[in-house]
Order: sequence, then structure tokens, then C-alpha cells
Amino acid sequence: MGDTAKLTAGGGDYEFPMKSGTLGPDVVDIGKLYGKTGMFTYDPGFTSTASCDSGLTFIDGEEGVLLHRGYPIGQLAENSNFMEVSYLMLNGELPSKDELDNFEFTITRHTMLHDQLRQFYQGFRRDAHPMAIMCGVVGALSAFYHDSTDISDPEHRKISSHRLIAKMPTIAAMAYKYAIGQPFMQPDNSLSYTGNFLRMTFGVPAEQYEVVPEVEKALDRIFILHADHEQNASTSTVRLAGSSGANPFACIAAGIACLWGPAHGGANEAALNMLREIGTPDKIPEYIARAKNKDDPFRLMGFGHRVYKNYDPRATVMQKTVREVFDALKVNDPVFEVALQLEEMALNDDYFIEKKLFPNVDFYSGVILSAIGFPTEMFTALFALARTVGWVAQWNEMISDPGQRIGRPRQLYTGPTTRDYVPIAQR
Ligand code: CMC
Repeated sequence: MGDTAKLTAGGGDYEFPMKSGTLGPDVVDIGKLYGKTGMFTYDPGFTSTASCDSGLTFIDGEEGVLLHRGYPIGQLAENSNFMEVSYLMLNGELPSKDELDNFEFTITRHTMLHDQLRQFYQGFRRDAHPMAIMCGVVGALSAFYHDSTDISDPEHRKISSHRLIAKMPTIAAMAYKYAIGQPFMQPDNSLSYTGNFLRMTFGVPAEQYEVVPEVEKALDRIFILHADHEQNASTSTVRLAGSSGANPFACIAAGIACLWGPAHGGANEAALNMLREIGTPDKIPEYIARAKNKDDPFRLMGFGHRVYKNYDPRATVMQKTVREVFDALKVNDPVFEVALQLEEMALNDDYFIEKKLFPNVDFYSGVILSAIGFPTEMFTALFALARTVGWVAQWNEMISDPGQRIGRPRQLYTGPTTRDYVPIAQR
């Protein structure tokens, strides 16, 4: 392939430079297209558009590959922990022991919320969705931490990134506690990031909370698996909001709003609801038949993926984690048996084999989170907690890029052409 792309359009011939990354498809740099030709490109949903340079995450959907800073997700999930992956995402390299200790110390010292933020919670209805609370409280952080909102100062960006990563578990746990009417639990700095979150969620002041190591490990792994996923809708939202110079707390609140949608963060809830609807293993063939029936809109939730046409590498890790959590908690819920049998039947069914439909990350995550004790409304809040690392890393990468400009897509206008205003009496 040459290093330019030729375009013949509107009676003219044009050349545009090509760019290559370290992995993945080459791109045609059409930044000067409008200036040269007076035309725009048209790509609703951005299915063929690279919106930025990024060195954070690489996905090859055909091969089922997901890399963070070059490291395969399976290796990170197996050998690393969420704090180390967070350091990697923010700094580009795995930390030394001292660097990791310092990072964990810093995050731990930012876990408490400004005390006045408690009053925000009282303003919400008890049945408010945790994501409604997360949007509001995270956006409000910018009103409390003025000392770290100068986005042109790398030190400010670092502090606000640490604050967001550190405070997210506290904010999410408080949303849960508020919903069930239990007192808020203060962070315990002697615990791990994930252990502390479990305690703030499920602990009560009246007694000592014992973190179950297998549960802590499983949840930490779920956080790793959700830490970043390239330029998805919520990450692109954070970048677009940040491109105007908005402060990081406001940008992450925008990301949370986008993630809330059922097409993005809500799929694991849908998968779990489906499993509950199936109810017992004997009903599975009926649902598989429905999924295969062209006249029935029903689909197996948690199966198939827009990008992965091979095993979702995150699902591979999840599958293993299900067993560990079930065994540790001695779970006895029929929904788990349904999940296991459904997976096995679908993976051995020609329809799913031919169409390359594999379980995706959402098939298992809802099952595990439910076994741990999280209500379904909390699932997306947990996703937001973990994805905050990716959001702040992507936001930092964007602001540090000297070529960064405000994001401003164009459009294909299909409205009325110019017409004269008609006074109301004549309409
Ligand atoms: N159950 C039954 N058939 C399916 C399913 C499914 N879950 N998914 C795809 N198919 C069939 C579909 O009917 C189509 O058949 P045909 O070629 O005969 O028309 C073929 O497979 C290709 O489907 P598609 O919709 O064109 O594929 P896509 O890659 O555009 O869609 C998807 C991907 C995730 C929207 C789809 O697989 C789906 O709806 N899955 C269920 C919902 C789900 O689990 N979503 C979570 C995805 S993971 C989210 C994340 O990474 O954050």
C-alpha cells in the first residue's frame, strides 16, 4: 500500500496521506478534505472513523485480542490487580514495587469525600437509580476540588485523576447504602481498593466486616476487565466533553451519563434478567430455539459482540471467575445452573458456531455480581467505577496531545432550505 490515498469525487482527483499505527488498520488522514474539496465524509456511528491517536488500548475483534499498553487482558487479569492496571493505564509502564506502593498510598489517601457531599445524597429519592446519583455527585466534585481543575497543569490533572479513581468506590457504595437505608460507611485505608469497596457496600458499623478473599479477587478482576475498551461511546463522550477544556469531574460525569444507556453499560443486567426469565434448565432449548428463529426478535443476551467475532477475551476470564465465586460463596441459585447449561448448549449448537456467537463479557459479569450480592441496578455503577480509570487515562492522553483541538463533527443537512419568516397571523 502506498503512503497516500487517492479520491476521485466531484470532478476532481485528490490525494490524502495515509498513517500507520503500531497495530491495526492504516488510516486515511482526511483532515484537509473539506479545505481541498469542499466535501465532508459521512459516517454516522463512526464505524469507519479513527477519532484520535491513542497508545492505551488495542482491540482486534476478529482475533479476540484486547491489549492495554501492549499487555494482553488475560495476562493482566490473571497476574495483576486493579491498582497496578490503573497505574499502567495512567503512566504507560508497569510500576516497580515502590511506584506501586506510592500509587496505592496516594489513591488510599483520596478515598474520603468532602463531608458536605453527604448532603447531596439526602436530596435524592430513596429509589433513585445509582447512576443518577453517580452523574450528579461526580459532576458536583468540581464544586469541591477547585485546587485541581486547571487542566493545563499536568500536576492538577494528576491529582484530579487520582481523586476520581479513589472517590468512585465511595460514591458508588454511598449510592447503594442510601437506597437501602443503611448508614454510609467511611473508607478503611487498611484494605485494598476492592476490599474497601466491598466493606463500604456490604459492611455495617455495628459489626466487623470480613472481606472474602475469593470475592475480593473476583471483583478486582471484573474491575480490570472493565478498565478500558478503546474509543467506545462513553470514552468518546469524555474526550469530546474534555476537548472544550471542561474540567475532568464534569467530563467523567458526561461519560457516566453515556454509559448509563442500555446499549452500552446495561447489557449485563439484560443478560441476568434473561437468565432469570428462563428460570430452569429444562426451558433452555425453548429459548435457544427462539434465538434461532428469524421470525422471533428474541436474542440470547450476553452472546455475540459488535467487535469480537471470536471469543471475547474478557469472557474467557469471567467464565473461570464464575466457578471461583460460586465455590467460595457456596452459591445455590438456580440462575447460575441455567447460565452454565445455556452456555454449554449454545457453544455446541451449529447456529451459534457458524455465526461465531460466543458469550461476551456481560454474560458472566451479571451472574458473578449477583452472586456477590449486588442488586442489578448497581451493575452499571460498578462498570462506571472501573471505567473511570480508562476515562481519565484517555482524557489525560488527549489533553497532553499538542495537536488536540475541540471536537466538532459536521453533518449532512436534510432540513428545509432557506425560507421567509411568516407572521403568526398569516400562518
Ligand atoms: N442471539 C441470537 N442470534 C444472534 C445473536 C444473539 N445474541 N447475536 C447475533 N445473532 C445473529 C443475528 O441474528 C444475525 O443473524 P443473520 O446473519 O442470520 O441475520 C447474526 O447473528 C449477526 O448479528 P448482527 O446483529 O448483525 O451482529 P452484530 O455484530 O452487529 O451485533 C450484538 C452484535 C452484540 C448487537 C448482538 O450479538 C446482540 O444483540 N447480542 C445480544 C446483546 C448483548 O449481549 N449485548 C452485549 C454486547 S457486549 C457489550 C460491550 O462490550 O460493552
